[in-house]
Amino acid sequence: MKKNILALNGGKPIINYSFKISNSIDRKDINSVVKVMKTGVLSGFVASDNEFFRGGNEVRKFENLWSKYFKVKFSVSVNSWTSGLIACIGALDFEPGDEIITTPWTMCATATAIIHWNCIPVFADIEPDTFCIDPISVEKRITKKTKAILAVDIFGQSCDYIRLMKLAKKYNLKLICDSAQSILTTFKGRYVGGLGDIGGYSLNYHKHINTGEGGVIVTNNKNYAKKLYAIRNHAEAIVAKGTKKELTNMIGYNFRMGEIEAAIGIQQLKKVKKRVKLKQNIAKQLNIGLKNLKGLKLPKVRKHSTHSYYLYPMILNPKILGVSRKKIFKALEAEGIQGLTEKYITLHLYPMYQKKIAYGSKNFPWSYFGKKISYKKGICPVAENLQDKTFLGLQIQLFDLNKKDVDRIIKAFKKVWQNIDDI
Ligand SMILES: Cc1ncc(COP(=O)(O)O)c(C=O)c1O
Repeated sequence: MKKNILALNGGKPIINYSFKISNSIDRKDINSVVKVMKTGVLSGFVASDNEFFRGGNEVRKFENLWSKYFKVKFSVSVNSWTSGLIACIGALDFEPGDEIITTPWTMCATATAIIHWNCIPVFADIEPDTFCIDPISVEKRITKKTKAILAVDIFGQSCDYIRLMKLAKKYNLKLICDSAQSILTTFKGRYVGGLGDIGGYSLNYHKHINTGEGGVIVTNNKNYAKKLYAIRNHAEAIVAKGTKKELTNMIGYNFRMGEIEAAIGIQQLKKVKKRVKLKQNIAKQLNIGLKNLKGLKLPKVRKHSTHSYYLYPMILNPKILGVSRKKIFKALEAEGIQGLTEKYITLHLYPMYQKKIAYGSKNFPWSYFGKKISYKKGICPVAENLQDKTFLGLQIQLFDLNKKDVDRIIKAFKKVWQNIDDI
């Protein structure tokens, strides 16, 4: 909690304590870990074409439960969703120089996974009110080299899957769902991660449920699942030692989940509904409490979908408010609100895109492919404007907030709004 900024009206902040840090671990998680520890087997994997190729008892049980819960045919656990994304791109068999359209509003691993396989990330703009990839902008970016759309269900919001699926069908593209932040989010009654060819979730410490580090890839395609299992567990070695000759050209990694993480995952899955509901209730309370504040736009939920509120996103209108976002942000922080963020990630503006792989730089890796992909500021004006001027997020995933905490957050917002001329 920052204490060095003076709160409004005499310096007494509305919130003068630290919020409780998010914690989804309870006695059952702890017992499940102890049980695994007592077996002495902390990982059941062997990189051979035998019964241990797909991991230990806990890993297999976890994957089966996950498939049942999310109504998918195959679930492949991994040691992080970053690993999961790399495995997804690998399993779809793209060629170096193929273009994959994605969003700049995402965590960096989304696009790094594309670069990992020498494919080219092409950034489409985002929708101004949902922050998800904009299908209109996606269509404008499609070329002969485009092979996939990597959509991100950002902050818990579902992408516009009707239009993304239509584009995928029309242009024969694969659809990959990065639903890292959006566990239990549904679109037309189906869980988002499983709506594309391949997708998945992160189980890192900050997610609704977690295994410390971890992730799960989901797919309904047997062929992709086979490749995912191989990439997770040193594909080249199992081809050499066994019968999986159809995977000859594959390389793999150690993306394997340990038995302890899988045991925790089994327990976490049992409480995912409750954990997501908690965040949805916080959002509901904020929606009611903040609804009449001028110049503040509250989150929109896409039609036919649910929102799991990894983050509570808002948009400020500095013109209506008469003050900059910076000033409002500072005033809200001074009132003791924790977890506020005045920006999100706008990936194409990261130094690695601006310097390392910018077109024209001596390191530009795909000059070889004769492509001129621009990462210049201006290519995604909606995302950039939100980033520069208007976005305001409350990272509710960081805390276990109760009703009183949320009441105080609302009170702090109201105090700042009432004193807006003084900030
Ligand atoms: C949208 C998105 N994609 C990918 C990742 C990477 O997941 P992990 O931290 O499990 O590697 C994250 C993590 O926060 C994320 O939010």
